[in-house]
Amino acid sequence: MAMLQLFVDGREIAVQEGKTILEAALENEIYIPHLCHHPDLKPAGICRVCVVEADGALVPSCRAPVAGGMAVRTGGAMVDRVRRLAVELLVVNNHDDCLSCGKNSDCKLQEVARYVGVDPKRLKRFKAQELKPVIDSHPFLIRDYNKCIMCGICVRTCEEITCIEAIDYSFRGYTSKISTLGDNPLQESKCTSCGECMVRCPVGALLSKGEVRPAYEVKTVCTYCGCGCGIYLSVREGKITGVRGDRKSPVNEGELCVKGRFGYSFVNHPDRLTTPLIKRNGRFEEASWEEALDLIAAKFQEVQVKYGPESLGGLSSARVTNEDNYLFQKLLRSLGSNSVDCCARL
Ligand code: SF4
Ligand code: SF4
Ligand code: SF4
Ligand code: FES
Repeated sequence: MAMLQLFVDGREIAVQEGKTILEAALENEIYIPHLCHHPDLKPAGICRVCVVEADGALVPSCRAPVAGGMAVRTGGAMVDRVRRLAVELLVVNNHDDCLSCGKNSDCKLQEVARYVGVDPKRLKRFKAQELKPVIDSHPFLIRDYNKCIMCGICVRTCEEITCIEAIDYSFRGYTSKISTLGDNPLQESKCTSCGECMVRCPVGALLSKGEVRPAYEVKTVCTYCGCGCGIYLSVREGKITGVRGDRKSPVNEGELCVKGRFGYSFVNHPDRLTTPLIKRNGRFEEASWEEALDLIAAKFQEVQVKYGPESLGGLSSARVTNEDNYLFQKLLRSLGSNSVDCCARL
């Protein structure tokens, strides 16, 4: 694609034809405040916070394509007025209990309000008085309508990324909100609980239940299925407290399914088996690995001698590595059986 030259606040930059003004500015480390823009999604032009002056006209920079020789102003009296109004309307409708919010210091509304310079005292008398519901009936997600800025990122994620289309805008005017068909609970809709919408929500309106800031993260691979998605485990006090997708992983580019994102509590669960169990006198008793493996070898031999090697079979797991599965089929074949399968087909 051809490269175009344009001027942003008097600075000449070169960008590929077809880019939007916002993309061009961000690529060149020129900040334009924005809320409903997400790099993974098609531009929607909903929030109007990204407004700029392009060749004398006000345009939402996330939707306006660049043109050769274009002169863009990211500020100025007219731009500031429109942008301030857009941000203030969101702030007055927002429950601003930032200190108790899981998104505090990582919130796009905070970032934009700081840039625009919103005065909370001036807005106090316009503040919404009634609290909206906080929906926490879902097993993994909390939806706080008091913090929703109606940017539609969750809706577009569910449509463009996961192709599920479980949520959309519903109702009108002040009662307008994001909900499922028939305003039913998310867990009763066709939502697959992947959490992709939550990951992209720019504010604290969609949060993961019980997630706390980690002390550190560990880069690893999800063990639930053969896809092998790249993940980062959040760890605090020796326990896994959350999972995020690795955007640099070529397998999943940061996306995860419900198992990979939320199915980690088994790791620290008190009922988790940590030693082999051998059934003696009708009761399972803890045993060492040596005892367990000796017993398995003896039973295998017994069956092999009595019924022939083809009577043996093995079920491996999608949760182990390819190398482990390779060794497992080798073991079964060395015992004379080709009956090997995997739990993913059960
Ligand atoms: S959790 Fe996944 S499927 Fe459910 S609404 Fe969000 S993006 Fe859609
Ligand atoms: S829940 Fe989050 S992503 Fe969805 S519309 Fe509200 S603020 Fe935007
Ligand atoms: S996140 Fe889901 S799709 Fe990806 S490896 Fe884990 S279980 Fe498989
Ligand atoms: S970021 Fe451009 S209109 Fe919202």
